Amino acid sequence: MKILFLNGPNLNLLGLREPAVYGRVTLAEIEAQIRSKANELGVNVDFRQTNAESELVDWIQQAREVFDVIVINAAAYTHTSVAIRDAISGVGIPTIEIHLSNVYSREEFRHHSWIAPVCKGQITGFGANSYLLALQAAISIQL
Ligand code: DQA
Repeated sequence: MKILFLNGPNLNLLGLREPAVYGRVTLAEIEAQIRSKANELGVNVDFRQTNAESELVDWIQQAREVFDVIVINAAAYTHTSVAIRDAISGVGIPTIEIHLSNVYSREEFRHHSWIAPVCKGQITGFGANSYLLALQAAISIQL
């Protein structure tokens, strides 16, 4: 089984960026946790970050027939991107939306997700653990 983890804009700044909201764990540390857990569970993971919307769209398109599940923290593009939503629905790969923070307890503009309706489900508010919960959810989709 192959799972693609995608991370959107500014998530490369985790650890430094608004630690009261996002915690002090870096994206590299989250990736290491995911790789170690995935290894234990015998699943294959790819883990990527980009600040570019078009790159996320390209990666989602290229995932067709390569990955079984996509886990995406689209970051700010969650609230703006019809292109990412269309890419997810276009490839038809089961996709899980995740966020470190609880987007519903924050500013109103974060309450709307363009991608939620085309995702299998959403995990939001568990900090770095949102990624581990998503790994479990991704595996359970395939069972
Ligand atoms: C985020 C929440 C988004 O609203 C925000 O734009 C981010 C990070 C999260 O993981 O909590 O960049 O996706």
